[in-house]
Amino acid sequence: MPLYTSINFSPTTQILVWEITETFDDLFGQVLLNDINMIRVKNMKSDLHQRGFLSVRKLLQEAGYNDFDLYYDESGKPHLNDENFISITHSFHFSAIIISEQKAGIDIEMQREKIIRIADKFVDSEFHFLKPEKTQEYIRKLTVIWGVKESIFKIRNEKGISFKDHIQVNTFKIDDKKTTAVLEFENVKQQFSIYFEEIENFTLVYAFEKQL
Ligand SMILES: CC(C)(COP(=O)(O)OP(=O)(O)OC[C@H]1O[C@@H](n2cnc3c(N)ncnc32)[C@H](O)[C@@H]1OP(=O)(O)O)[C@@H](O)C(=O)NCCC(=O)NCCS
Repeated sequence: MPLYTSINFSPTTQILVWEITETFDDLFGQVLLNDINMIRVKNMKSDLHQRGFLSVRKLLQEAGYNDFDLYYDESGKPHLNDENFISITHSFHFSAIIISEQKAGIDIEMQREKIIRIADKFVDSEFHFLKPEKTQEYIRKLTVIWGVKESIFKIRNEKGISFKDHIQVNTFKIDDKKTTAVLEFENVKQQFSIYFEEIENFTLVYAFEKQL
């Protein structure tokens, strides 16, 4: 399968999603890898993880980049060699990247019932607008909230950030496809604009740090 979707969010921000239907060999034959990532991909234990990683290189190529334009810092956060910001996510048969002039984070998650069991580990003030009795909507909203917090974490990326205690997602409806959120950590309060899409039974979330 080629590109699943490409969202031209603005002239300086692009979101690209891949549906992974190819085998490892197909993908491996279609992408360039630098030496470090060649070793990394060979050492990955799961075929799904390998294909997720390789499909991200296909997305990079779609955006006019390749693996040689990308590097990881010591925390595992990816960076581009030019002035743009990048964030990466993969989950089962989907992967996605966001490339932007703004600081941005992205996350894709499958909507699963088991998120209900861990809700109190990452949800706090958001319980005020959630309705657990509407099970399907509850799962979809929890998945958005999880994705928001992962996306914001990927932007700020600091040890000690607690999803439950430091990141607050403001009320939203699934149809809104957007919301806002706040990260308050070590005396710094940052506001984020949030956008989300449902793709099959997955939720794609992306976040931008609001410019003050
Ligand atoms: C690092 C982390 C953000 C990855 O998220 P994930 O949902 O497990 O996996 P995803 O597929 O969405 O994202 C993986 C990608 O994130 C990127 N990434 C890894 N570490 C990162 C970091 N510190 N900062 C930003 N991006 C990071 C990488 O590009 C990685 O993919 P790649 O190595 O194949 O290029 C996540 O594991 C994490 O540490 N979260 C915070 C910890 C936490 O508080 N968890 C829950 C509390 S209830």
